[in-house]
Amino acid sequence: MRSVCVCDMLACLLVVILKCCLVGSEVVTCSGIVPMVYRNDKISITDFGGVGDGRRLNTKAFNEAIYRIQHLRRRGGTLLYIPPGVYLTEAFNLTSRMTLYLAKGAVIKATQNTANWPLIAPLPSYGRGRERPGGRYMSFIHGEGLHDVIITGENGTIDGQGGVWWNMWRQRTLQFTRPNLVELKDSRNIIISNVIFKNSPFWNIHPVYCSYVVIRYVTILAPHDSPNTDGIDPDSSSHVCIEDSYISTGDDLVAVKSGWDEYGIAYGRPSNGITIRRITGSSPFAGIAVGSETSGGVYNVLVEHITLKNMGVGIHLKTNIGRGGVVRNISVSDVYMVNVRKGIKIAGDVGDHPDGNYNPNALPVLKHVRITNVRGRKVQQAGLIQGLKNSPFTDICLSNINLHVTTGSKYTPWKCSDVSGGAIEVRPPPCSDLIGTKGTCSHHF
Ligand SMILES: *[C@@H]1O[C@H](CO)[C@@H](O)[C@H](O)[C@H]1NC(C)=O
Ligand SMILES: *[C@@H]1O[C@H](CO)[C@@H](O)[C@H](O)[C@H]1NC(C)=O
Repeated sequence: MRSVCVCDMLACLLVVILKCCLVGSEVVTCSGIVPMVYRNDKISITDFGGVGDGRRLNTKAFNEAIYRIQHLRRRGGTLLYIPPGVYLTEAFNLTSRMTLYLAKGAVIKATQNTANWPLIAPLPSYGRGRERPGGRYMSFIHGEGLHDVIITGENGTIDGQGGVWWNMWRQRTLQFTRPNLVELKDSRNIIISNVIFKNSPFWNIHPVYCSYVVIRYVTILAPHDSPNTDGIDPDSSSHVCIEDSYISTGDDLVAVKSGWDEYGIAYGRPSNGITIRRITGSSPFAGIAVGSETSGGVYNVLVEHITLKNMGVGIHLKTNIGRGGVVRNISVSDVYMVNVRKGIKIAGDVGDHPDGNYNPNALPVLKHVRITNVRGRKVQQAGLIQGLKNSPFTDICLSNINLHVTTGSKYTPWKCSDVSGGAIEVRPPPCSDLIGTKGTCSHHF
């Protein structure tokens, strides 16, 4: 009797826990992972001598306002209000428990005086700056070891004035790696929403070694010929939600990364639990990418409802020899693309190396990829999947894909090598490695 009762209670408890989990996971998907916080304590940049005339430097005002937030530690944190106007400033650091709020018509603009730009240490998972050896220029807006940071408002603008940096890159006069527009490192509980990011010197938004990051309702703009202006690069980070945004830049719109060759392998920090959905955009490079820096591993990436126009590559999973790392459980669905060079590309020979010390035996593993419900018009080549001879890509599964290959230009069929998986209802028909008796998928479509 007693044991039945206990069992009943246990069963009941189990049901409750299960229900909680199910309901919880529904509620807590994507942007629900970081709840928005409203802060009662509010200060304005003008309280600290900020002037929005577009000419005077506001570095001191930003530093003093943020120092005040950091040291007064008001309960519930503090909101720093940026009123309409153009606030020119040098790079600055954020602090925990703060909201940077850009009013409608507010612009935080980076100085073009690159000579005084502060340098910081390279990321351990890269071993050096991404484009130059040694340290790297600090991000325009930077945060390290922070929690509870919100960058939001009424679609004000963070303008990197990247032109001077792009020209240094073009003229090969860069001494160190260019600054990101916003980088948060070793931080958690971050929301970036309702802001316009413009003309980043390098990558736009770079959460690295972070967890619980929500980026939504953002607009990211840079010219298509601006070098390396990736939109959002979640890097060795977990629980990241990127949604409802428009991105048009000179490089990948969103690229999930996790460190570079021997440095990334040694640091061993994967990107895990990344949701990317309802993104629209345009770029000469990739729409949604994983890589090419994947040395810490990239797991559990969910991509859905993506609309791409005038693209280099629609979906691009990329890695290289020397990277090591495992890329697995990548699910992509409901993608529409028009005017693209390659619809789907999965390749093991992409990207450069930090130095000559990479281990050529550190082969990446890429498996369990599911791409479904993809439509495209004006596609030059539907797909290219090239694994590595000694590390073939496995369980690559395609279903319900219809990429209308450009007529007029020469028909370029799918190309595959060193890959296994399956394909159902894919037009034009993919390579034989994925169809017929050879095709097998561990997933149910
Ligand atoms: C910002 O923070 C970084 C890392 O904590 C530090 O190295 C740098 O000196 C700070 N820079 C400025 C301009 O405050
Ligand atoms: C800001 O931009 C977002 C995304 O484009 C849009 O959904 C939102 O309505 C805009 N908000 C304001 C206050 O203009």
